[in-house]
Amino acid sequence: MATDSIPVLRVPRHLAIIMDGNGRWAERRRRPRSFGHREGQKAVRATVEFCRRRGIGVLTLFAFSSENWKRPEGEVGALMQLFLHALDREVDELHANGVRIRFIGDLAPFSPELRQRMQRAAERTAGNEALVVNVAVNYGGRWEIVEAARTLAAAAARGELDPATLDEAGFADATCLAGQPPVDLFIRTGGERRISNFLLWHVAYAELYFTDTLWPDVDAEVLGAALADYASRERRYGLTSAQVRAAG
Ligand code: IPE
Ligand code: IPE
Ligand code: MG
Repeated sequence: MATDSIPVLRVPRHLAIIMDGNGRWAERRRRPRSFGHREGQKAVRATVEFCRRRGIGVLTLFAFSSENWKRPEGEVGALMQLFLHALDREVDELHANGVRIRFIGDLAPFSPELRQRMQRAAERTAGNEALVVNVAVNYGGRWEIVEAARTLAAAAARGELDPATLDEAGFADATCLAGQPPVDLFIRTGGERRISNFLLWHVAYAELYFTDTLWPDVDAEVLGAALADYASRERRYGLTSAQVRAAG
């Protein structure tokens, strides 16, 4: 597609990011991996600001996977401390900027202190509409699908749902991202080309973008390049190119 034919306003409504590469960023500097996680917070701030400026409605960030508990105890502990401090430090400003924060994942294994902070941040910002930020913590895509299935099965067992009428929209309504637009653009930083159990249901028709940039090095320029790449793509959803052009 010629650059001049790219519509200027082709901005994703929903951007999802696997923020990967913190550990390698630190190791390259001969620093502990936790230093990389700390630096990664600056990239989170820059990303939230970028999304607000570009008019992206929803940002979903993978902060801690259900598999990350298997990391060395010291690293997991440092990440938990970081989450606590980040919540204490950032929520005021996010709230002032009209950002709504939500947490998706199984929050049960987190400390009561951390759970309470997450809940408070979510409640306090619940009315904000400038940007929704979903933070995925102890999240796994398969877990989310099983949870949705469990919820729906329980409703069917109570006689409140007829399984024969369940469709994709109904299933989506039982997931963590119910009511939010589908993921348009899925970015993974840090060079790996895999999904790592993130948003399995929601990436069905997302555009995938992989960059070698390590997460702490991500800034508006890196994100701008991803958005430009997204804007140049043709999303066909099974149609032919001619059909898409005729409809557009
Ligand atoms: C992503 O960075 C952050 C978390 C998983 C919490 P990594 O810590 O996975 O960094 P690399 O991939 O080891 O460089
Ligand atoms: C995915 O990164 C999880 C987060 C970024 C929070 P990982 O670094 O844990 O993924 P793998 O292990 O390389 O697949
Ligand atoms: Mg990694």
